[in-house]
Amino acid sequence: MNADTGRPARILVTRRQMPEVEARLARDYDSVRNTDDRPVSVAEVIAGADGMDAVFVCSTEPLNAAAMAALPDSVRAVLTLSVGTDHLDLAAAKARGIAVLSTPDVLTNAVAEAAMLLLLGAARGAHAAAGSLRRGEWQRFVPGGYVGKDVTGARLGIYGMGRIGRAIARNARGLQMQIHYHNRSRLDAALEQAATYHADAAGLLAASDFLVLAAPSTPETRGFLDAKAIAALPDRAVVVNVGRGNLVDDTALIAALRSGKLYAAGLDVFNGEPLNIAQDYFDLPNAFLLPHIGSATERSRTDMGMILLDGLDALLAGKTPVNRVV
Ligand code: DGY
Repeated sequence: MNADTGRPARILVTRRQMPEVEARLARDYDSVRNTDDRPVSVAEVIAGADGMDAVFVCSTEPLNAAAMAALPDSVRAVLTLSVGTDHLDLAAAKARGIAVLSTPDVLTNAVAEAAMLLLLGAARGAHAAAGSLRRGEWQRFVPGGYVGKDVTGARLGIYGMGRIGRAIARNARGLQMQIHYHNRSRLDAALEQAATYHADAAGLLAASDFLVLAAPSTPETRGFLDAKAIAALPDRAVVVNVGRGNLVDDTALIAALRSGKLYAAGLDVFNGEPLNIAQDYFDLPNAFLLPHIGSATERSRTDMGMILLDGLDALLAGKTPVNRVV
């Protein structure tokens, strides 16, 4: 409800959402939805936002400074179905007094589960083994065949110890992994849970038999895993990325996977995703690749939509939404 007008909030929704979210949008809002899930251009978002209180977007509709500036005056909030906001110009939204709401917490466990899937899949050569099985190559037991790298008890370095990084640490403790992390600032003891803090990223790299990138894309994190950083990892380390593709220098990572400097990689996010991913990844048997499915569980994707609508309701009632970014 828009408290100023006394009528249901008007929302433009750019993508088809999970069934419960679609039902709430239809029931409680004056919503313009995209039930066919056809691709929508940014120009269409701007035109369709006329008279709307909010636009509900995904990373498929990046709103840069010009797009934020062009949004109609009626728009009070941009809701994004993601915890990452690198597809939105936050400063431009703030300058216009447009609130940006995201989806913290509700996807943490799903992304942390995906990180473990990638870590284990990469360590155990899941891509190569599964492909071999499907090609009918599994004819008999071979003692030295399909052999992977041990995870239990190994050192895990986590780059970015926010909510998701901490959930990954919690999962990894179940495998008795020794947790190391680098973060902008050291966590307090209750959150750190005896993990080893490295103020310097080089220290983290040297201690990472497994390295998981769980940081957002910022000017400080972009390009973090370059040739120099890879050289600082132990030989035959495994790299996992659930943060953003642009944390990684693809040329350097591909070269290290080819040369054997790195044992394997598990990647859920890519530079140029989804259509312009470095094609060389697809030829690497030691790359376990997923199409950015970190938050893609039934509960997580539903809760993501719900937290955005809860936040919009709060905003329009004059309160501060817990998920307001700017
Ligand atoms: C997000 O929401 O930003 C994540 O990339 C989900 O996987």
